[in-house]
Amino acid sequence: MRKNIVAGNWKMNLDYEQGLSLFSEIVNMVKDEVVGNQEVVVCSPAIHLSSLAKLSTAKVAVGAQNIHQAASGAYTGEISASQVKSVGASYVILGHSERRAYFGETDALLAEKVDAALAHGLKPIFCIGETKEERESGEFFAVIKTQLEQGLFHLSADAFQAVVLAYEPVWAIGTGLTATPAQAQDVHAFIRQTLVEKYGQEIAENTTILYGGSCNPSNANELFSQTDIDGGLIGGASLKSRDFLEIVKVFN
Ligand code: G3P
Repeated sequence: MRKNIVAGNWKMNLDYEQGLSLFSEIVNMVKDEVVGNQEVVVCSPAIHLSSLAKLSTAKVAVGAQNIHQAASGAYTGEISASQVKSVGASYVILGHSERRAYFGETDALLAEKVDAALAHGLKPIFCIGETKEERESGEFFAVIKTQLEQGLFHLSADAFQAVVLAYEPVWAIGTGLTATPAQAQDVHAFIRQTLVEKYGQEIAENTTILYGGSCNPSNANELFSQTDIDGGLIGGASLKSRDFLEIVKVFN
């Protein structure tokens, strides 16, 4: 179901006490701010998941930033979908550009991770987006379509409905160089049309498509007011409770 979601991606930041303190602040600040079909999600490092999930509410959910595709086994250092679910998390970021770039995660591998997440009732926040070179060469629509087709389009229409998409132009992540609202809307509209062609109008209309890449309190309002932008996947600004709340408040 299409929701307005503001999701924070803490990446590899915050030790245990810092994470607990920030999450508690967010829960307290958000409780009167989130209305209607809006949801706030905090995707933390694995060390935080259990304690944050215990503090999560109907308005503030918890997610992981990765899972291994196997159900269990000899994969030192990895965590599984069932382990993430068992501590009370409900989302998992998959396909983030940093995992694609630094850990060589391919579309085929991500398709397996999506299956593992769905098999254990986790909602994937599936990231897609082009590099600076792909943007400048004009091939970004083709790149994004391939990421969708190879990573997600093996799913049945029913299974796909649990997926949240996040368009994150790689050149905007952590750079302060945000996509303009028009640039972002163009890609979001393309993504939605690609979903129409694959799954039909109703599922496409009901899919939540987030924008990520230097989203902050000064640009969130204009970005989120675009027809096909349903919220944001927030990195740096999610580590500051005031900034994160300002972004959450855009929908109110
Ligand atoms: O997953 C969200 C992240 O990649 C965006 O980071 O710091 O540009 O908001 P940032």
